[in-house]
Amino acid sequence: MHTRCRYGLRSSVGEYKIAEEAHIKAIQIDEKSVEACGHLAQFSFVAGELEHARVHPKFLHSNATSHKWAFGAIAELLDNAVDEVNNGATFVKVDRVYSKIDNSPSLLFLDDGGGMDPDGMRKCMSLCYSTKKTNNTIGQYGNGFKTSTMQLGADVIVFSRACRNGRATQSVGLLSYTFLRKTGQDDVIVPMIDFDISKHWSEPILYGTQEDWSTNLKTILEWSPFNSKDDLIQQFEDIGPHGKKIVIYNLWLNDEGVYELNFDEDDEDIKLIDETAHLSKLSRKAADKQSHISYRLLHSLRAYASMLYLRKFKNFKIILRGKPVEQYIISDDLKYPEVVIYKPQVSSTKQDRLEMIIDTWIQLQDVPSPSKIEKLIIGWRPKI
Ligand SMILES: Nc1ncnc2c1ncn2[C@@H]1O[C@H](COP(=O)(O)OP(=O)(O)OP(=O)(O)O)[C@@H](O)[C@H]1O
Ligand SMILES: [Mg+2]
Repeated sequence: MHTRCRYGLRSSVGEYKIAEEAHIKAIQIDEKSVEACGHLAQFSFVAGELEHARVHPKFLHSNATSHKWAFGAIAELLDNAVDEVNNGATFVKVDRVYSKIDNSPSLLFLDDGGGMDPDGMRKCMSLCYSTKKTNNTIGQYGNGFKTSTMQLGADVIVFSRACRNGRATQSVGLLSYTFLRKTGQDDVIVPMIDFDISKHWSEPILYGTQEDWSTNLKTILEWSPFNSKDDLIQQFEDIGPHGKKIVIYNLWLNDEGVYELNFDEDDEDIKLIDETAHLSKLSRKAADKQSHISYRLLHSLRAYASMLYLRKFKNFKIILRGKPVEQYIISDDLKYPEVVIYKPQVSSTKQDRLEMIIDTWIQLQDVPSPSKIEKLIIGWRPKI
């Protein structure tokens, strides 16, 4: 999981790793505590035989508040798809779909990466369990999926298709805060069902009894926007032979009772409600502010996603509401680019531990006034 600064840029693979590591340290992620939480936080699965410590649903909810900004949460899900480039992913689609039950908007993510087999699905739904072991992935903590989906909505359903060791499978998992809360669960229970699709038909994979499997299916149907098994199976149609699809529903509303994400203002974008917009309507200053890049990055997912990754993708696209996002490599706009190689000396004694500051000054091309300069700080200021 990445705790975000507002303009968090992604180092996709390798080349910006050092800068990103510095950034991650600077924003104080304590890996040890994350590891410790891993020992505590295995979810329980209705039909699985997994040993688990108990995790109360309130933990899930409080954990979700680690993202203060909805686009930061969306970025976690984009990161997971970008990590799948290592497994052949060529796209991630982000879109608004409507819930079949009450026609409310839901958020959809679909990628054609390697997907997850039944075991991978269970790991994905567990806290602090990451399958990513190499240093060419963005994800590392095993928490991003849970915190981000729960920040965006109360409930998420996941569909995944994978082919591992000659066996093709498809799985459905439901992480539903509504279900956990309304049924008064003391444990985070994640109903899941898996099918073996290696042959020409799809065969339920049983871990316990047929009844356990059917109970899981029943719970998924009761608490998801899908009414029947056929309806669930249909969801795999646009996944292809492997990949992952996420539908986040019961999206959160803000204090005024409106959806935090605005799908209506621009049908090729997802906007974030500007809580201050009504204060400054139509003024020249407000118009300037809204055309400034720093405003667009905060309020337009298309603008944010365009500059999120520092590496230009060769064979991968983020497709937002049907239209690919044009990548904007922010460093191309540096007016006086300079590369600083930072080699910290690691010392165990406290007085030797010098902190450093690296300031990078960037003048962006479309700033409203030439005197206005954006500043990006990477690193630490000495405490003198
Ligand atoms: N789109 C995806 N395709 C395939 N597997 C995925 C996808 N998203 C998540 N997973 C699997 O689920 C696991 C958990 O994802 P999650 O985002 O919670 O953690 P992470 O990416 O490993 O680490 P971080 O917390 O740093 O994001 C991943 O390690 C990966 O195995
Ligand atoms: Mg992740």
